[in-house]
Amino acid sequence: MNAFTYRGGILCADNIALPVIAEQVGTPCYVYSETRLRDNYRAFAEPFASLNAMVCYAVKACPNVAVIRALASCGAGADVTSAGELERALHAGVAPDKIVFSGVAKTRAEITMALKAGIHQINAESIPEMRVIGEVAASLGLRAPLALRVNPNVAAHTHYKISTGEMGTKFGIDSTQLPEAMGLAKTLPGLDLKGFQVHIGSHLFDYNNFREAYGKLADMVRDWREQGFDLSRLDLGGGVGIPYDGQTQAPFGDYAAVVHATVGNLGCELAFEPGRRLVGDAGVLLTQVMYDKQGTAKRFLILDAGMNDLIRPAMYEARHSIWPVRECADDAQPADVVGPVCETSDLFGEFYLLPGVGQGDLVAILQAGAYGAAMASTYNGRPLIPEVMVSGDTFRVIRKRISVAEQIGWEE
Ligand code: LLP
Repeated sequence: MNAFTYRGGILCADNIALPVIAEQVGTPCYVYSETRLRDNYRAFAEPFASLNAMVCYAVKACPNVAVIRALASCGAGADVTSAGELERALHAGVAPDKIVFSGVAKTRAEITMALKAGIHQINAESIPEMRVIGEVAASLGLRAPLALRVNPNVAAHTHYKISTGEMGTKFGIDSTQLPEAMGLAKTLPGLDLKGFQVHIGSHLFDYNNFREAYGKLADMVRDWREQGFDLSRLDLGGGVGIPYDGQTQAPFGDYAAVVHATVGNLGCELAFEPGRRLVGDAGVLLTQVMYDKQGTAKRFLILDAGMNDLIRPAMYEARHSIWPVRECADDAQPADVVGPVCETSDLFGEFYLLPGVGQGDLVAILQAGAYGAAMASTYNGRPLIPEVMVSGDTFRVIRKRISVAEQIGWEE
């Protein structure tokens, strides 16, 4: 079911009209659909039901505890990148043995916390990090269940800022250094090498890039098994894209087919780390037009949400769909949709057609569930905005509006 649809001309989240939320919670705010979260989880997990596979939600995409809990209640594990995300996942009720710990540079304190919690796996990103993980585990009298994140040197063909699978990026262990890493895994008593992990980037549209990376991974498993390593796990990372603003995408089944074809018959336990695919289209940023400004060259619709609330357009040139909350059939004059922050980059996009929308009207910025609230800041003295969860006929505030006074209270 599409969570955000017009009913009687009003945009709704599940069965709740967005103006009701705007009235009761205020704007701007994030609105998530629990129904959509659950549907997305099921759609992701189902094609892998015949494999021994675990879907670990990449908490970084939307770390609200209620969101993690909703996915965990469907069976999701968690992929975390910090002690903060680990604490959130545990608090939300994710079983430790369903948690994988990614992240470029884990501190000793984070490794200790993860090992004490008994998590499923730590993904090591480098040889020096392997040494530290080994030391910490040994000092606790434990062996760390380890996967090596390999850098397969595969282009992801996504935005360069979220491309991670090529040599020259900071991520993973290069294939040339893998022999050294494998040797170390064998000799350090604190390490229990289970397998490999790969994550070549985020928001991938062409599944052939996954095919190349997973194919290389499968070859590595075969090669290292021949050399006597018992490799029982593969973590395939995240990265599956979603359509933004009218893009079309190959069906998810095609991605699943790539997985089955490349690594399906290795007898490995699989893990996935999807973020965007689970939460991206399950959230909108609900915002009001403050001013309809007709400039000499252009018309601007200035929203009460800004780049501090949703940074994706400014940071990755992302273009999200923007819909009027009240449907209208009139012709529209194109407008640039901007925020109130004092930067030219506080621009959601140019030449949007928003029929019937003017000063005071509500609009929804779609596909805002992933890396929206997660990346928000208080820039320009703008406090973090509320998050709301809609579940069918009801809704609740899952993060309250944080006042400036509270924020000031944390300072000095
Ligand atoms: N696993 C690892 C190791 C990752 O680094 C990431 C994302 C994921 C999983 C989840 O990837 P996803 O399934 O969501 O593509 N802020 C950017 C995206 C950054 C992604 C960082 N890593 C954006 O708004 O597009």
